[in-house]
Amino acid sequence: MHTPVCDRLGIEFPIFAFSHCRDVVAAVTNAGGFGVLGATGHSPRTLDIDLTWIDEQTRGKPYGVDLLLPAKYEQTSREPRFPAGHQAFVEDLLTRYGVPELPGHIPAASGSISVSAQDADDLLGVAFGHPVRLVASALGPPPAELVTRAHKAGVVVAALVGTAEHARRQQAAGADLIVAQGTEAGGHTGTISTMVLVPEVIRAVHPTPVLAAGGIVTGAQVAAAMALGAQGVWCGSVWLTTEEAETDPSVQKKMLAATSADTVRSRSLTGKPARMLRSAWTEEWEGEKAPAALPMPLQTMLTAGAQQRINRHAATDGSGAQQLATYFVGQGVGLLDRVRPARQVVEQMVADYLAVAERFAAQLEG
Ligand SMILES: Cc1cc2nc3c(=O)[nH]c(=O)nc-3n(C[C@H](O)[C@H](O)[C@H](O)COP(=O)(O)O)c2cc1C
Repeated sequence: MHTPVCDRLGIEFPIFAFSHCRDVVAAVTNAGGFGVLGATGHSPRTLDIDLTWIDEQTRGKPYGVDLLLPAKYEQTSREPRFPAGHQAFVEDLLTRYGVPELPGHIPAASGSISVSAQDADDLLGVAFGHPVRLVASALGPPPAELVTRAHKAGVVVAALVGTAEHARRQQAAGADLIVAQGTEAGGHTGTISTMVLVPEVIRAVHPTPVLAAGGIVTGAQVAAAMALGAQGVWCGSVWLTTEEAETDPSVQKKMLAATSADTVRSRSLTGKPARMLRSAWTEEWEGEKAPAALPMPLQTMLTAGAQQRINRHAATDGSGAQQLATYFVGQGVGLLDRVRPARQVVEQMVADYLAVAERFAAQLEG
């Protein structure tokens, strides 16, 4: 399983874990993979706290951070005004499904996410104060200052792409590592499958190394990605059902029961197409009466309070909140059937990869 990317980053296995949860990041890094903390939901202060914690847990082992750097987003204040029709739609939805208000002592989530160039710069300022080995960007090419700053510090710049054309642009912008993310993936995703996208991207950006992402949950899939020419895998969904993940328990229960057909690309949480669990929430936003989703980051800010109310009440069986509950996850959810420690996921991937490699070797001999 050893590829040049392992040497570049000082890791044992080229298994990358994207997670918003610092515990997952530390656990995967400590298991010999490479944890990447999603920083978009952070303020500089909370990012500093989490990275300090990760430093303590990983003691010099390598990890990275990920930022959303969308080419298009809406400049907005921390408390924007939403169109009245949008607010009324969300309120009506919560009323129709009988979702109770939050208790008075719990502040409503603002849904504010750090996607502006200034936000990214502030977060990077914090990240570079820690021994991060990789900075990843998604939704748009890394700005020149990010690349210069990262390269000066010996930090690898990675970029997520959903088409070969985007990959070429990211390479031209200075990305050292391309993550080819197929439509199967959880979160913001395009329309081309991993099986097709990975070889296409490898061909487009050769000799820049490429990681495969989207739908990868098992070691056999890791072997398939490597067979396509990827130098490793970048996974997000598989960590959502690990012991370390902070996934809402009722959503995690839905994930364990879901099949690969139970996800949908929807703009309903962020304004951009993102793959998530299909639920009454995504169905309602696809309905005739639904308004068009607002541009990023307004849709997240519009819906954050509603999501908070839904998750708080989704544990009650048969409740409207339970029907509405959703979260970002990819088609690989159909292969997730139990909660495991993140280290065990890494170890199982390695063991299954080896079994495939041995099977191939035996096929050559036979
Ligand atoms: C819950 C969740 C949130 C995500 N958020 C981000 C993000 O903020 N930035 C990013 O670059 N990728 C994000 N992704 C995509 C992952 O980085 C990764 O490419 C994807 O999960 C790979 O496909 P998989 O989910 O099938 O493993 C997210 C994925 C999930 C599942």
